[in-house]
Amino acid sequence: MEDPPGRLAWRRNAMDKHTSKILVTSGLPYANGPIHLGHLVEYIQTDIWVRFQRLRGRDCIFVCGSDAHGTPIMLQAREEGISAEEMVVTYQQEHQRDLGRFMVEFDNFYTTHSEENRELVEEIYHRLTERNLIERRVIEQAYDEEAGMFLPDRFIRGTCPVCGAEDQYGDSCEVCGATYSPGEIRDPKSILSGAPPVLKESEHVFFRLGEFEAMLKNWTANGAVDTGVARKLDEWFDAGLRDWDISRDAPYFGFQIPDTEDKFFYVWLDAPVGYLASFKNLCDSRTDLNFEEYFEPGSQTELYHFIGKDIIYFHALFWPAVLEGAKYRLPTAIFAHGFLTVNGQKMSKSRGTFISAAAYLEHLDPEYLRYYYAVKLGSGIEDIDLNLDDFVARTNSDLVGKLVNIASRCAGFISKNFDGRLSDQLENPALQEEFVNAAVSIEACYEHRQYSKATREIMKLADRANQYIDERKPWVLARNEKTAAEVQNVCTQGLNLFRVLMIYLKPVLPELAKKTEEFLGIDALSWADLAEPVLGRSIQPYRPMMLRVDDKAVSALVEALQEPA
Ligand code: 2FM
Ligand code: ZN
Repeated sequence: MEDPPGRLAWRRNAMDKHTSKILVTSGLPYANGPIHLGHLVEYIQTDIWVRFQRLRGRDCIFVCGSDAHGTPIMLQAREEGISAEEMVVTYQQEHQRDLGRFMVEFDNFYTTHSEENRELVEEIYHRLTERNLIERRVIEQAYDEEAGMFLPDRFIRGTCPVCGAEDQYGDSCEVCGATYSPGEIRDPKSILSGAPPVLKESEHVFFRLGEFEAMLKNWTANGAVDTGVARKLDEWFDAGLRDWDISRDAPYFGFQIPDTEDKFFYVWLDAPVGYLASFKNLCDSRTDLNFEEYFEPGSQTELYHFIGKDIIYFHALFWPAVLEGAKYRLPTAIFAHGFLTVNGQKMSKSRGTFISAAAYLEHLDPEYLRYYYAVKLGSGIEDIDLNLDDFVARTNSDLVGKLVNIASRCAGFISKNFDGRLSDQLENPALQEEFVNAAVSIEACYEHRQYSKATREIMKLADRANQYIDERKPWVLARNEKTAAEVQNVCTQGLNLFRVLMIYLKPVLPELAKKTEEFLGIDALSWADLAEPVLGRSIQPYRPMMLRVDDKAVSALVEALQEPA
């Protein structure tokens, strides 16, 4: 059957899409530091996608939580003189608050240090053991005799065995880029005590990752990851999949391994299980959600993990293997993104480019950043840059100069000359149709995480709307009695074009969309509302919906970053 012409095209396209339930996660932030603008790339990227799905009428759940375990968290709590539990709860609350202020709308923000997670991890471990996928082996590891603990690679520093650079990490050199084992580094010292580490034996627990090679290759080749990620995975496949050490010796902040005295699950085993724990915790408070429906093998639901490119290994190899080994469903896809640079450089406290969410919010509107990230984000793992001058220029020209301007140019006439009432018909139905039909392409962009392309198309339409108003010149029409009535039609048309654009931008700008709904006196906008314009009704007097970014606010933010905390 041929596509029906005209304005039904987008609707037909929408109906062709599948309708299964979706579960989405973002990476769990470590509970030992504030949320910063680098984190926000991921949370905003995910939130836009989730909001888009919901706007289209799909059932989409979004869970996250704090990543609570591991040596750095244990040591930091010690240093602060509080228990790790206490520190984790404090950060969990802070993270939830900051992400909420950026309008990241989770169904649940939980923690990996929870009973649900402990039970799930133990159950998984039990199932893996039963299936002979767990093995114990004695290994030698660096040990700090003064601190009385085994040292993660990152806790050893020394001289690079390749280029001779001093004060390098135990596993890699920042100067020449070489990677090596901690045994190879010259003149090694523990960063905890300064003492040279000694080698000490200990029994560790391993997960037999190699058993899953065929399954993982098949999963990767069938749409679970984009090509950029697949290429990375191929390198790892070529190098061979080694067994994965999932245990750590005491002292450690984590879950104790059953049947051991002093061994704990490695944080990277229980962290992704935290996705399940957060969802499980949500299921317990909602009668309409069933955990098994989402996680049993062959589940008809879709599961997506948004992550940074640095943790692909964990999510695209270990995680699916663990799920498969423990007889859970596999993720539908892993969506990886790149890092954030600020003014072209890595975020750094010493350079004054480390911007925490809280610092940003003291000076600037969160929607500016949501929009700027959308403008920058594609579906790949390329890094994105926050250039502060560009940020100001972009926000002011697109959001204020183009978008909101459409409404402000039209609203006054409707209020003053027509008692706030929109006309009963559109002045240019063909133009309206053109705007509505852009939905086909825009929704494909959102679906494939090409927000940069989506916002470009939307801004092109905003230009077109302004051009329409320029051509029809309501301010001139209003001066002449004979054409005064046309003003209502033209402005009603302009406001309807604005409304279409706000439907398109609602995933990115939820607050501005809400103001639009209040201004137009309409119910919460959804994608389906593209079908009908608003006509013959009263609107509220126009109040400025978004202010220009103040250069001074950006300078104040930058200044605040220079001051030592
Ligand atoms: O890299 C990180 O920041 C980790 N805390 C992400 C964990 S994601 C998931 F596995 F929990
Ligand atoms: Zn080196």
